[in-house]
Amino acid sequence: MEAQKKIDKSTSAVVIYPPSSFSKKALIDSLEKYSFLYKESIENPELFWGKAAQEIEWFRSWEKVSNGRFIDSQWFCGGSLNVAFNCLDRHLKGDRRNKRAIIWEGENGECLSYTYEELAKEVAIVANVLKRHGVRKSDTVVIYMPLIPQAIITMLACARIGAIHNVVFAGFSAKALLERIQDSEASIVVTADGGFRRGKIIPLKARVDEAASMSSQIKKVLVYKRVGCSIQMIPGRDYWMEEELQKVEEHCEPIALDSEHPLFILYTSGTTGKPKGIVHSSAGYLVQVALSTKMIFDLKEKDLYWCTADIGWITGHSYVVYGPLANGASIFIYEGAPDYPSVDRFWRLIDAHKITIFYTSPTAIRAFIKWGTSWIENYDLSSLRLLGSVGEPINPEVWLWFYRHVGKERCPIVDTWWQTETGSILISALPGATPMKPGSATLPFFGILPDVVDEKGQSLPPGRNGFLVIKRPWPSLLRGIHKDETSFKKIYFSRIPGVYFTGDGAYKDEEGYFWITGRIDDVINVSGHRIGSAEVESALVSHPAVAEAAVVGIPDSTKGEAILGFVTLKEGYLPSTELSEALKDHVVKEIGSLARPKEIRFLDTLPKTRSGKIVRRLLKEISLEGRITGDTTTLEDSQFIDKIAKAKNDFP
Ligand code: WT7
Repeated sequence: MEAQKKIDKSTSAVVIYPPSSFSKKALIDSLEKYSFLYKESIENPELFWGKAAQEIEWFRSWEKVSNGRFIDSQWFCGGSLNVAFNCLDRHLKGDRRNKRAIIWEGENGECLSYTYEELAKEVAIVANVLKRHGVRKSDTVVIYMPLIPQAIITMLACARIGAIHNVVFAGFSAKALLERIQDSEASIVVTADGGFRRGKIIPLKARVDEAASMSSQIKKVLVYKRVGCSIQMIPGRDYWMEEELQKVEEHCEPIALDSEHPLFILYTSGTTGKPKGIVHSSAGYLVQVALSTKMIFDLKEKDLYWCTADIGWITGHSYVVYGPLANGASIFIYEGAPDYPSVDRFWRLIDAHKITIFYTSPTAIRAFIKWGTSWIENYDLSSLRLLGSVGEPINPEVWLWFYRHVGKERCPIVDTWWQTETGSILISALPGATPMKPGSATLPFFGILPDVVDEKGQSLPPGRNGFLVIKRPWPSLLRGIHKDETSFKKIYFSRIPGVYFTGDGAYKDEEGYFWITGRIDDVINVSGHRIGSAEVESALVSHPAVAEAAVVGIPDSTKGEAILGFVTLKEGYLPSTELSEALKDHVVKEIGSLARPKEIRFLDTLPKTRSGKIVRRLLKEISLEGRITGDTTTLEDSQFIDKIAKAKNDFP
């Protein structure tokens, strides 16, 4: 066994060193090299990011690296480029032309692959279809699709013509889809008839129809045929993509776009009832996702890289599509569920396709652990050389299981911390360089200056829990919240002036390693997906039986957190198991199955401050610990604690 282990005295955490066989071939091969380059990147960010920008191709070179600001942040000022050109055309000059860009397996086992040349051609055709249907530069295109190559092709087609994509995860309901269509002002939706999930058909087109029936904003729907289910096609609004592809030419010139031209909007949950449309730029985003993919995944020309995220999330944007393709990598994607037709599906895929880099979530790993190690043993996972984790804090024991049973103690693990808003990974090990500590996202990426501070913004000493902030702008920073500048400033830049506020709690150890403890706001992290308490609450109160609702996250052994809902009922309604199930179903209908509460509890009143604000903190504390330790003096109803303690949900 190559990896050495030792107990680090200052932190009492396990330290695992990158295997020397890995380091020898790695881009960054020692901690000294990382530290040297990191220091340089912090001392001279202009030089560092300027060099990083040379890794991509520009139509017009930029004049200034950055304006150095968090608000109205600009990077590579004066430059122009095309993101799709960088992910496709520039690879066509040499050997990568015939290299496989995408290898896809559907849930039913069918496979499809595209070389870079084939992918570039498809993207150009789809771009022409979009143009033919009236899509112009700066228009928003909603993409509501299963994980099939055509989804990625459509994203790149938008980028090619300067349209802004808004990918909506296929698990969202018609209502959630509509909300995102309306907020992003899109009039065109690209979808599929359906998608496969655990052998069932997800009725995507039917959901688009439902959304369209509630709004006249949707003028065009382009439909890929994926499952062959019967769907309704409205003449003049709905078009089969396969027919449209025949009507256009194969060439589409990529247009030169300003560095700051928005590449996409992606909605994520916050603390209000309304999801936020996070806006990302073209140049800053591309430069940083390309560089971070190369360094953090130590990409080699021959790798077959699999990130299990769906393109409906930021991980899918940055580390399925843009980062890897900008590097000319071969990516693997799989349409379906990890437990279909049986729980060894992922191992079978790794073995069959000879995956070398496997990037997944703690939730998935916890499910693998539950399903049992024996499912892995029948498969040859020796192609793997690097593992990654993202989306939620990973417990050290889960980390170690992943390291032993999947990586066979040969593969480093990169635990990557970042957010929809950060665009790319900001804290992570570099696999050939950084000694790993299971449970810690380890050290900052080049050019990134994170810190742990108190409410006043004072830096805290090692071991003290506080707010994770980033003290300096970086290229892939969000450029705003679509149509909501006030929230943009308030959420990220007002609580502690002069820095970016992440909303996460963390502490540092003596060696400067970051340990992320989770959200400190009313955002629940279910399976690595962010769900706002307020969004689930407004879904609950939209049910006729519910008067008021309060929603909190509670620890869950697989999903990290699960949703617990407290409700008070309107006159004439009584608590029952049926009503509890009906409320859960109602949330699924309003938002999507990812937001389904694990449990609903009925109460007579909810704890409120005298100004009427529901105190979720108390509900959470009571449900977790059965008692309250925090301050309750501002509570409107001081009897509340007794009442909630008596609340039982054993119905007649
Ligand atoms: C939130 C961001 C960014 C990828 C997917 C989620 C949590 C993310 C880690 C990690 C601990 C993590 C944070 C963060 N998170 N990665 N490695 N360790 N926590 O994106 O939906 O924007 O959520 O996910 O709480 O704020 P997102």
